[in-house]
Amino acid sequence: MKRIQIAIASSKGGVGKSAVSIHICYALSQRGFKVVLADADSNQSSTYWAERADHNGHSLGFSVVDGIDGDVPEDCEILWIDTQGNPNLAELEKLSQNMDLVILPCGVDAGEVTATLRSIREAKLQVENYKILLTRVPPSPNKRGENLRNQFQAAGLPVFDMFVQNRVCHYDANESGLTLGQMKGRAANAGAKEYANLADAILKIVEAKS
Ligand SMILES: Nc1ncnc2c1ncn2[C@@H]1O[C@H](COP(=O)(O)OP(=O)(O)O)[C@@H](O)[C@H]1O
Ligand SMILES: [Mg+2]
Repeated sequence: MKRIQIAIASSKGGVGKSAVSIHICYALSQRGFKVVLADADSNQSSTYWAERADHNGHSLGFSVVDGIDGDVPEDCEILWIDTQGNPNLAELEKLSQNMDLVILPCGVDAGEVTATLRSIREAKLQVENYKILLTRVPPSPNKRGENLRNQFQAAGLPVFDMFVQNRVCHYDANESGLTLGQMKGRAANAGAKEYANLADAILKIVEAKS
């Protein structure tokens, strides 16, 4: 099997790039894939998350390597790259051409939307190479997520139907080095399910391309 390569990139920090990386890698490894997360972001939140997991005796089910040139084992089936925040736009353009998919997480805040639209335009991303993922979306009955998704769709921009909802249990997950799927409680369960569905949607896209 050819190795699948997926990158996640955002020009703003704090949108949930690392939280999505950890949770999707976890969900993909739960599906039986050999997954490696390459942490290319200098703030290293994915690396620290995995270190906390290690320290507390939890197993994430995948390994985290340092940077894009890290030591990726031969048998890695899915390489997920948590890219440098605020990427150089020429680099982002090149990355989008070399990856099976680039995921652009975007919050519902106007500043995050503007930054995402700017990256897409200036890095000349092609619709077949990337997909926007709305993250930290306020829960229903708030309609910001739905409205924004409809606007992206109306503008012809590729966006995941599903969102990552804003859930306070992410703070506990991050602190303990656990994923929501390894935690108890309704909110964690619902969040874990969301990430699992998203992982399936991502797999479908990259498998259809190969
Ligand atoms: N879906 C979410 N709901 C609530 N908090 C979140 C969510 N995703 C991430 N966070 C929190 O937001 C902060 C930034 O997330 P992080 O994944 O580190 O963002 P980035 O990698 O884009 O800088 C962290 O404190 C994280 O725990
Ligand atoms: Mg990060």
